[in-house]
Amino acid sequence: MRIDIITCLPKLLDSFFAHSILKRAIDKHLVEVIVHDLRDYSINKHRQVDDYAFGGGAGMVLMVEPIHKCITALKSERTYDTIIYTTPDGELFDQKKANRLSLMQNIMILCGHYKGVDERVREHLITDEISIGNYVLSGGELAAAVISDAVIRLIPGVLSDESSALSDSFQDDLLAPPVYTRPAEYNGWKVPQILLSGNTKEIEQWQLQQSIERTKMRRPGLLKD
Ligand code: ADE
Repeated sequence: MRIDIITCLPKLLDSFFAHSILKRAIDKHLVEVIVHDLRDYSINKHRQVDDYAFGGGAGMVLMVEPIHKCITALKSERTYDTIIYTTPDGELFDQKKANRLSLMQNIMILCGHYKGVDERVREHLITDEISIGNYVLSGGELAAAVISDAVIRLIPGVLSDESSALSDSFQDDLLAPPVYTRPAEYNGWKVPQILLSGNTKEIEQWQLQQSIERTKMRRPGLLKD
């Protein structure tokens, strides 16, 4: 898989992909993440990529031309399965969307910024619009990072134990059960005895029961769906 991210704040994203699971996935060539500086496609020597909104109003708007130039350059190199724009008024991101994206070959993500992006970008260049939640961030970079993280960890081979992605919360519309590690007792707080029993079948039953209880208590909407 290849993910191209277009942003005017590339430094914000560079460090995100330089650590832990994501770094390992990149090092193992399971995914390629390329961050593009939108300013490299600017229309003038001032590296300008935004301008005042026609009709007035506070905030700068990302211009259509640098984005068009950047997306066109990328599209001339390969075919993209999706060109995502991160925006609070996009479709809400969830595990199902992450699963779908994880099956794709080439993903492009344009990070929204400032007041927004010239509407013509959304009309003519973007194929999908994604929000990571009902709140407004100061830019789409964090959203691009969240989407990439959720997708990359699903690629076979990225997690050392593949089944651990399958047992994530939300994968089967259930939250994950509680987990414990050593010591079996700390400060008088005990690990449930069943987990120490070695009886795999009973442990799995207990975990499923815990998942169902937890989902009923915390996220009953998931069960209804
Ligand atoms: N940009 C600003 N807020 C956002 C959000 N909630 N989701 C995606 N992109 C955003």
